[in-house]
Amino acid sequence: MSMFHYPVLRDAVMAAFQPLPSGALICDATLGGGGHTARFLELSDSCAVTGIDADPVMLERARERLAADPRVRFVHGWFDEVLAGPDRFDRILIDLGISMFHLREGERGFSIQEDGPLDMRIDPSGDGDSAADLLMHCTEWELADIIFRYGEERYSRRIAAAIIRERHGGIETTHQLKEIVRRAVPPAARHGRIHPATRTFQALRIAVNDELGRLERVIPCGVRALNPGGRLGIISFHSLEDRIVKHAFRALAAEPIGIEGGGSMTVRVLTKRPVVPDEAELAENPASRSAKLRVLEREE
Ligand SMILES: C[S@@+](CC[C@H](N)C(=O)[O-])C[C@H]1O[C@@H](n2cnc3c(N)ncnc32)[C@H](O)[C@@H]1O
Repeated sequence: MSMFHYPVLRDAVMAAFQPLPSGALICDATLGGGGHTARFLELSDSCAVTGIDADPVMLERARERLAADPRVRFVHGWFDEVLAGPDRFDRILIDLGISMFHLREGERGFSIQEDGPLDMRIDPSGDGDSAADLLMHCTEWELADIIFRYGEERYSRRIAAAIIRERHGGIETTHQLKEIVRRAVPPAARHGRIHPATRTFQALRIAVNDELGRLERVIPCGVRALNPGGRLGIISFHSLEDRIVKHAFRALAAEPIGIEGGGSMTVRVLTKRPVVPDEAELAENPASRSAKLRVLEREE
């Protein structure tokens, strides 16, 4: 299976973003494999897409895939920082999380299947802590908190205690961490549908990349980066993310939002309920099962 085959909720995003104004300025804030952008380019000859990715490897892959289409501008950076800048857009898409490429290849430390260094930084060119650094420096209480809050893991305390017990020689690989977690959970919890370390991996990835902090910060920036009539769509993959999007959208729609240079704008939420994949998409791409799309519009 190629990572390019499944831009999640692709048709739902395109429908929610229609009509695309002529010469639409589009921001694909999580370019990834470029699947959504490829579709924007098919649907509009006159659009211009700004594609952002914090991972320089993904940006390179997208550039190759899109054959350096002159309608696309490739930007390396974190979406909350780029969207706080001066550019304005008619459509902004944020497809949260990491790509299939990250999940399948071992070398970045995201994969639960493939062994690799315990890195998990979306931007390995930055100077932030890796997951291995985090495991070495956090207290037991901090680790338990991260695993409980970001992984919603019921055995967070046992797992944190096991990490502290075993970290003296360093926990450098994903395989080592998987084994520590597997042994830390009760025997009955070792043979579920998913690997017992899946939630711990998710929690560490969220912490290493400050994913929820970035999501909280990007929503107000994204809204202020919309032209009148512009739309912001966000695809989330777990309840922690969706809760942030739902509450932030509701709060923004409740009253006028102050804008730079004075004045204000108003927004309305276009999705009373989140849009989720239909049966056909679920059959084709089971990994889309937890995806939820919410869209808001800046009023004229
Ligand atoms: C789910 S994938 C996007 C897939 C893409 N929509 C497609 O159709 O191929 C998310 C991408 O966003 C990047 N990413 C995640 N968080 C980011 C952030 N805060 N700022 C910029 N890029 C981010 C990841 O490196 C990954 O490549």
